[in-house]
Amino acid sequence: MRKAKLFKGTLMFTIVIVLSYIVLGILNTFLFPHSLNDDIWSLYIVNVEKIENAQRYAAKVLGQKCRKSYVQQEMNILFPQKYDINMHPFLDRNSILREPVFKYNTPFGFNTHQNRLHQIMDVMPTISLPEELESESCKRCIVLGNGGILRGLGLGPYLNRFDVVIRLNNAPIQGFTDDVGNKTTIRMSYPEGAPKSQFEYDPYMLFVAVMYKGVDFSWLKAMIKKERVSFWERIWFWQKVTEELPIKPTQFRILNPEIIRETALDLLQLPEPRSKLWGWHQNIPTLGVSAVVLATHLCDEVSLAGFGYNLSQPQIPLHYYENVQMHAMKAQTMHNVETERNFLENLVKAGIVTDLSGGIHCKFCNKLESTTSESLQFFSK
Ligand SMILES: *[C@@H]1O[C@H](CO)[C@@H](O)[C@H](O)[C@H]1NC(C)=O
Ligand SMILES: *[C@@H]1O[C@H](CO)[C@@H](O)[C@H](O)[C@H]1NC(C)=O
Repeated sequence: MRKAKLFKGTLMFTIVIVLSYIVLGILNTFLFPHSLNDDIWSLYIVNVEKIENAQRYAAKVLGQKCRKSYVQQEMNILFPQKYDINMHPFLDRNSILREPVFKYNTPFGFNTHQNRLHQIMDVMPTISLPEELESESCKRCIVLGNGGILRGLGLGPYLNRFDVVIRLNNAPIQGFTDDVGNKTTIRMSYPEGAPKSQFEYDPYMLFVAVMYKGVDFSWLKAMIKKERVSFWERIWFWQKVTEELPIKPTQFRILNPEIIRETALDLLQLPEPRSKLWGWHQNIPTLGVSAVVLATHLCDEVSLAGFGYNLSQPQIPLHYYENVQMHAMKAQTMHNVETERNFLENLVKAGIVTDLSGGIHCKFCNKLESTTSESLQFFSK
């Protein structure tokens, strides 16, 4: 009697589980019909008017007179006592490391990696920055996010006209130059993100390494010295890393971890890092927002394009170069997408940086608004 009851219970339980799987499966195909293999780009069309407006807006931004030190001054006003106007964005052999570098662990500082840091500093170049970065004249930077929104806007020729073009990770140029241009001044990346194709390396660009873990130092040292990464170190990377970069040792830099710390703790005001047994506190800024902050320290004026994850449109393409949809972004737990969006939106709305593809805040979608600083009252509430 009891046995039969138990058997019945188990049977019911199994049926319920199997049914839920079937229902979930149906729901999934219904909600995300193109999630497997289909080319998501075949359905992607950009409105002609939007293309024209985006290009006209980019031309307008480039046509205005560049304002010397504009972005630092504005950031300093917006984040008093937080934004560090004297920040050195890169580490080279002569860098003087300040105290916060030793206070935090990666990626906010290099506390637990001091030996590796000193070893790598010995092989870093001592020479200065490329011409575009060194020049005293007013510099305009464009930071290119990898968002699908870049596709079809034809902004390539406009992006090439910026003094400094910053690209992230493996963002490809080959095959996408109409939309993303072909000039690269800086490629900012962690080891796993470094492009595999040699055609993605501009002969004069800087490779700016962003360090997240101990083996990243070993990888960078191997790349600078043109050595092999040992098997025991290779197993610690979460994706196959490039074995050789086709650039000279003088073209490598390390991103000052203070940029990541400043971005996360001072500007985004995310919680201080503390140890957690499993997972992340969502306090690691994305490479994209860190690159925008880097650009504010490096340039007189800053624009961005290819930014803006819109999680309420799960089916739109996530990146301009691949077949992945927005809902893939929902699964990640490392970054705080909403906080970053608000931060960038505030900067764009106030005219401190300009958004050429309009994914953060579009100033050309309805009518062409003024690109000059509109009002800082927005922040004083
Ligand atoms: C970019 O493309 C233009 C036009 O095709 C070419 O003249 C230029 O050399 C290219 N620049 C780079 C850095 O590849
Ligand atoms: C995100 O997508 C939703 C739905 O299409 C839209 O209403 C909203 O305006 C978008 N948000 C932004 C910031 O573009």
